[in-house]
Amino acid sequence: MSDKTKRLTTTAGAPIADNQNSQTAGARGPVLMQDYQLIEKLAHQNRERIPERVVHAKGWGAHGTLTITNDISKYTKADIFSKVGKKTPMICRFSTVAGELGAADNERDVRGFALKFYTDEGNWDLVGNNTPVFFLRDPYKFPDFIHTQKRHPRTNLRSATAMWDYWSQSPEALHQVTILMSDRGCPTTPMNMNGYGSHTFSMINADNERVWVKFHFKTQQGHAHLTNEEAGQKIGETREGYQESLFGAIESGDFPKWDMKIQVMTEEQAAQTPYNPFDLTKVWPHGDFPLIDVGTLELNRNADNYFAEIETAAYSPSNIVPGIGFSPDKVLQARIFSYADAHRYRIGTHYEQLPVNQPKCPVHHYHKDGAMNVLGQVTGADDAYYEPNSMGGATQSPEFSEPPLPLDGDADRYNHRDGNDDYGQPRALHDLMNAEQQARLYSNTAASMVGVPDHIVDLALSHYAKISQQYADGIRTALNAMS
Ligand code: NDP
Ligand code: HEM
Repeated sequence: MSDKTKRLTTTAGAPIADNQNSQTAGARGPVLMQDYQLIEKLAHQNRERIPERVVHAKGWGAHGTLTITNDISKYTKADIFSKVGKKTPMICRFSTVAGELGAADNERDVRGFALKFYTDEGNWDLVGNNTPVFFLRDPYKFPDFIHTQKRHPRTNLRSATAMWDYWSQSPEALHQVTILMSDRGCPTTPMNMNGYGSHTFSMINADNERVWVKFHFKTQQGHAHLTNEEAGQKIGETREGYQESLFGAIESGDFPKWDMKIQVMTEEQAAQTPYNPFDLTKVWPHGDFPLIDVGTLELNRNADNYFAEIETAAYSPSNIVPGIGFSPDKVLQARIFSYADAHRYRIGTHYEQLPVNQPKCPVHHYHKDGAMNVLGQVTGADDAYYEPNSMGGATQSPEFSEPPLPLDGDADRYNHRDGNDDYGQPRALHDLMNAEQQARLYSNTAASMVGVPDHIVDLALSHYAKISQQYADGIRTALNAMS
């Protein structure tokens, strides 16, 4: 008899005598309905796929550690930052935005940079990108924007016309489009790019004082990029360049690292900046708000099972912890809703019970029952299945209340383009590039416009001219050379 610990069984634990031959009526006969082992195998296979993420479907990830190197406790009481030397386990998932699950890794696109920190006071998710800004400042436009990045309903192809039709009517997107079309739009590997929390968040200290904050992760591997031509060649060699490089580096003990830094703005300063500090299409200039050291992020362990640890990892901007909070950024506000909703659809109501998503601190709540609720009741006491109760169930902790945030204003749909300078910051970025970088920016932008109707190109270039006439002329010249 085979070793009992290695015995092949059904999912109900019964031994399987034959895993090679179906049960049939005679050697040449049809299979029998009673062959539940065959049925179980086929039925399980039919359920192997879960929906891919509606955006950021293709991804690569690993486990790691955040080590604090500098004391920022004057800004935040968050336990993760409580002591220099403190190490917090985390899991990271990088991704591209537009491509589907089978997309090639080295395509030009914004990269996701999603971090889940298993802190002693709950999971903190920082679901950022490799860019400090985004294509929009009002979340109302997110589904429209994403539709232009996905496939045309009739051709089932991606449409440059749709992308530029949208962007040419959305000048707030051009800061992010400038980054996308620059060298940084096509990083060689996920290790060769920075990460940014992008939004403005808040930090709250032990005296319950709030500051506004932006998060930065600077690559220690250095920036490295592929040109469009090099990316085409790379994709011809392998569609899995990111998985190979990240998995390979970690497997060989060459652990990638990033320096974590923050920018801090007081509430008084926020009232005085010439731009809205909660506008996701804007950075805070380093000269005004210098980077402050926080720690080192290191990725040092590959997943043993990609599906269980990376594909079903569920990141959500709603996962904050005491000492770290939200801000009035409209896009952040929408994301606080959107991700947990996506997870309940994609992975199920109890996605937080999956090992990769489970907090590593005690969890108590009164949500009840539901499909795949494997933990059962976690209220802290047997008879406490409602709240308030006198049965010893978990209770609220008022000491974690945030300081009140003064808000005012009449409810209305305000034009988010009124009074916003959409051109100054892209100009600063354009102007800090050297001539070679600018030439690649122009030709990458032009390449993305090939085949787009003239009236759309003209409108787009009229906005580029407001950034810089040189920028608009550079794109026009490159485009003329391509058509
Ligand atoms: P700084 O000169 O202090 O900072 C410029 C930043 O630009 C550096 O962080 C540099 O990153 C980054 N950078 C260089 N090339 C590119 C590129 N192709 N795509 C994206 N980022 C790039 O100036 P400011 O802080 O005043 O910012 C000027 C402009 O730089 C901004 O308008 C913005 O477009 C861009 N930027 C600003 C950031 C910020 O938080 N202030 C962050 C990233 C970009 P690195 O240090 O890695 O070389
Ligand atoms: C993934 C919504 C803007 C970064 C997703 C997903 C949704 C979503 C529904 C899929 C989640 C899943 O199924 O697991 C939105 C909405 C936005 C927005 C509604 C704006 C209104 C942004 C911004 C950033 C960002 C501004 C970065 C600063 C990411 C990342 C992922 C993601 C990194 C992949 C997370 C992972 O690796 O699992 N987004 N998003 N998104 N989004 Fe957004």
